[in-house]
Amino acid sequence: MTFQSGRHFLQIPGPTNVPDRVLRALSRPTIDHRGPEFAKLSLEVLDGLKRIFQTPGHVVIYPSSGTGAWEAALVNTLSPGDRVLMFETGHFATLWRNMAVALGLEVDFVPTDWRHGVDPEVVEQKLVEDKNHQIKSVMAVHNETSTGVTSKIPPIRAAMDRAGHPALLMVDTISSLASIDYRHQEWGVDVTVGCSQKGLMLPPGLGLNAISEKALQASKSAKLPRSFWDWEAMLTANKIGFFPYTPATNLLYGLQEAIHMLEEEGLPNVFARHDRHAEATRRAVQAWGLEVLCADPQEYSSSLTAVMMPEGYDADALLDTILKKFDMCLGIGLGKVKGKIFRIGHLGHFNDLMLAGTLSGIEMGLSLAGIPFSKAGTAAALECLADTLG
Ligand SMILES: Cc1ncc(COP(=O)(O)O)c(C=O)c1O
Repeated sequence: MTFQSGRHFLQIPGPTNVPDRVLRALSRPTIDHRGPEFAKLSLEVLDGLKRIFQTPGHVVIYPSSGTGAWEAALVNTLSPGDRVLMFETGHFATLWRNMAVALGLEVDFVPTDWRHGVDPEVVEQKLVEDKNHQIKSVMAVHNETSTGVTSKIPPIRAAMDRAGHPALLMVDTISSLASIDYRHQEWGVDVTVGCSQKGLMLPPGLGLNAISEKALQASKSAKLPRSFWDWEAMLTANKIGFFPYTPATNLLYGLQEAIHMLEEEGLPNVFARHDRHAEATRRAVQAWGLEVLCADPQEYSSSLTAVMMPEGYDADALLDTILKKFDMCLGIGLGKVKGKIFRIGHLGHFNDLMLAGTLSGIEMGLSLAGIPFSKAGTAAALECLADTLG
């Protein structure tokens, strides 16, 4: 492999670039996870995460990837054979469905074209039809990382309320938490699933659940087998700053620093920054003469943009060229859009010049790969950035 000088460009939609401040925090000596210093740290980060999820309620942290936090949401609240309503908004929604099936749940999986989010009207219709309240939970992926489509959560909640249905609402915010506005409490969500390696700017390794009182009640009678993921054991130990098993101590140092950074910037500014970079990215895509996969401007993602390749051109070959020539990785197409799209991550620790570099690398890559496009994309994005400077 040729020597690459300078910083690698990690522009996949997570894991994201880890800030130097967080890297330094991670490198602190590991401490006794049963001692008073650790208890202080964990109580501080648990409290900080509540502000990030925008909830006064419970938040738990697992030493796991996001998939673990998905499983925790299901096994703590549901029983074998329970019906759940899910939407095939993309690859990650499909994986969560597969997990639900594997755990013995009965899933009503509503198809989409992978270019749209969850349709609240379908939620309402399905729940109204479910007269005996067999459906125990509605599940939605807030930001579908495989497609760059963000489903609107408040209209889903409103649809559930209009139907007068008692199902729980569970939302995956794995690629939206701390990037796109999300309000666990205000939006009436029962379980929110998150993880460390995206908007929280940490390496992979922390899985998160925010839990409503209703979800906690449901956990008292839920019968799916659980042990590692058991909320009760976790919440009991967390009360005094401890964990029922060895936590990811150094990642919690990193989390403490990441929360400081997010709060120094201010969450509304963090969201506005992501919105602005997403808009500039879409201007570039449009000026290149390419198409954004997300078909509804109301559902454009602010953390990533999925770009459709012109017919007959392979996205993976383009990404291979960009990696080899410019040391930048972008997200490949997953599942049924493999080879057909590429994804630009613009979330987490990111700024205008990083976006300019990212788009320049793509533009050079499109040229090298012989893809028909107009070289006006980066210029259009720079203009948008200059016009919207705060
Ligand atoms: C929306 C979404 N949900 C779930 C997952 C799975 O998380 P993990 O790979 O950390 O287990 C991902 C991973 O990228 C994701 O983007």
